Amino acid sequence: MNADADLTKLLLWQMEAGADEAVLDHPVNHYHAQAGQRQCQASPPQILKNPTKSGDMARGINKGRAAAMPRLSPDSDVAPPPRLHTTDEAMHDARSLAHSAESMEELAEKLCSFEGCSLKKTATNTVFGDGNPESLIMFVGEAPGADEDRLGRPFVGVSGQLLDRMLAAISLDRDSAYISNILPWRPPGNRNPTPDEILLCLPFVERQIELVAPYILVLVGGTAAKTLLGRKEGIMKLRGQWFDYASPGLNCPVKARAVFHPAYLLRSPAQKQKAWQDLLEIRSEMSVAPVRRISY
Ligand code: URA
Repeated sequence: MNADADLTKLLLWQMEAGADEAVLDHPVNHYHAQAGQRQCQASPPQILKNPTKSGDMARGINKGRAAAMPRLSPDSDVAPPPRLHTTDEAMHDARSLAHSAESMEELAEKLCSFEGCSLKKTATNTVFGDGNPESLIMFVGEAPGADEDRLGRPFVGVSGQLLDRMLAAISLDRDSAYISNILPWRPPGNRNPTPDEILLCLPFVERQIELVAPYILVLVGGTAAKTLLGRKEGIMKLRGQWFDYASPGLNCPVKARAVFHPAYLLRSPAQKQKAWQDLLEIRSEMSVAPVRRISY
């Protein structure tokens, strides 16, 4: 094994573990440089009421290049590190920020200002949502992957392409549906999100559902289904039936349906038949949805 091959292996291992940024040649005191500054750039995503093409809508909140690991320069003034939130404090912040948002624009800004979830520090972008927020149908997945993190939009990688085909099969697209995730930040190396991370991000997606107030809520994959339905069963048990999803900010419960995650369908194509049955049920329920005036 030559040295180059060893280095390549080492680099691949680090990327697998979630490292996506090379540190600088010289150490930078990020505690000093960032005191009082936000990680997220100020401008929230522009959420258009009248989207033309899905590409017109900004969905991600780009914080620019991810900050390198904080390293203290030996001769710098050492500012005390910011006090870390306890999970309870962060939970309280998440709830009050999310609940106070009266519009999607405001919710995106509040999410941008939330510093209680460590996933934000390793993510490149905040992936807020995509599609038409006035839609009658909303899809919620698990968390952004590498492509979504890079582009700041949900479901744009390989599984996103399959989700687009699933939408198209029931005459939907990103102009007629809204798409989001339980987590707006990519877990490093695509690891599973922890229960604490899910709980911390939950108020934001719950508020997003209240603001969209869809007629049908589609929970894409086991994590979204279990989290939003508050159930312990896996996706195999949860799919194939209708649930009522209720929350204080909704006028009436929303019809909710759990479906297989497209990433799972790519690994297990034999399950596409069941996924198709679920899609047909969703299409049939959509056909009796009340008409909502959408201002194009
Ligand atoms: N998987 C998800 O659950 N969400 C995405 O946005 C991409 C992949």
